[in-house]
Amino acid sequence: ARRSLLVGFGGFLPDRVVSNDELAVRLETSDEWIKTRTGITQRHIAGEHDTATSMGAAAARRALDYAGLSADDIDAVIVATSTPDQAFPATAVRIQAELGMTQGFGFDLAAACSGFVYGLSTADAFIRAGQARNILVIGSEVYSRIVDWSDRGTCVLFGDGAGAVVLSGSDAPGDKGLLSTHLHSDGTAGDLLYVDGAVGRRDKSGYLKMSGRDVFRHAVAKLSSSVDEALKAEGLDYSDVNWLVPHQANIRIIEGVAKKLSLPAEQVVITVDRHANTSAASIPLALDEAVRDGRIQKGDLVLMEALGGGLTWGSALARL
Ligand code: ACO
Repeated sequence: ARRSLLVGFGGFLPDRVVSNDELAVRLETSDEWIKTRTGITQRHIAGEHDTATSMGAAAARRALDYAGLSADDIDAVIVATSTPDQAFPATAVRIQAELGMTQGFGFDLAAACSGFVYGLSTADAFIRAGQARNILVIGSEVYSRIVDWSDRGTCVLFGDGAGAVVLSGSDAPGDKGLLSTHLHSDGTAGDLLYVDGAVGRRDKSGYLKMSGRDVFRHAVAKLSSSVDEALKAEGLDYSDVNWLVPHQANIRIIEGVAKKLSLPAEQVVITVDRHANTSAASIPLALDEAVRDGRIQKGDLVLMEALGGGLTWGSALARL
């Protein structure tokens, strides 16, 4: 059966790095508080000219380069973002233009922090159906523009950036590629984490709001059952997993899931310490880092999982 191979990886982080100490100058917070509660020490923050489009295009170029493909080879661009530059055209279509593409199709996907997992799942379905051969799946986020910089309970948690992968359909026999994706959402918990207003609701603040404790509780429980579901579906065991590449929201959530899998810390890719929570960009940024520095090798079984506003959550299991 046709499989989607992960053939390219790319990331982009804005130049400006903001440390916890720098935030503590303007907010009643401390490096100690942020580090012990979240594992975050710093985050990258978009400059005036960095947008979901520009950062996503930069990550996409690097992923294409890694794959040895050009934009002409791409049939579809799927961008997971909660922070598009405009209501429309979609960020994906703007990125197509930046890459010089006039062929193929592109659209944005809104699933908050789970967006990249949703993107992989969507792209895989297009590839298996024969509707596309090569697809760019991008997560690109500028949460610095939707956090309330006077709310210490949320603004310290997020950072900006973009990550991309190229999925490529293959009919060759073998065990490589995306093995499965599992998606979930439950709107009854929608008020635990949301952005108050958007282009369609200008009477609202436009700021991110979160009940941190409740999200935390949901995250550990739902992500643990999500990784169970992923492995069970493939007849695999915890010990088969070479790498956990989780959404990077909080080190304590990540450690909770790793513990559930009995995975040692050395097999978990962590970027939250340096990137903070980059929402839909966090998994492809982490993948890019660990593939390029040689930690993740060809043949490795990689388990990705995420939970975000919606609530949305899910997993993707791939053999690279
Ligand atoms: N610096 C100092 N003190 C702070 C800060 C801060 N930045 N933020 C909150 N506090 C204070 C609070 O005001 C509170 O003080 P009080 O007891 O006097 O009222 C105290 O610290 C404890 O606050 P809690 O919110 O109860 O702290 P908690 O231990 O739950 O940690 C945190 C908060 C880090 C947000 C945690 O709940 C968490 O990580 N939740 C998950 C959130 C998350 O990961 N969201 C993203 C997932 S989905 C997605 O990625 C979009």
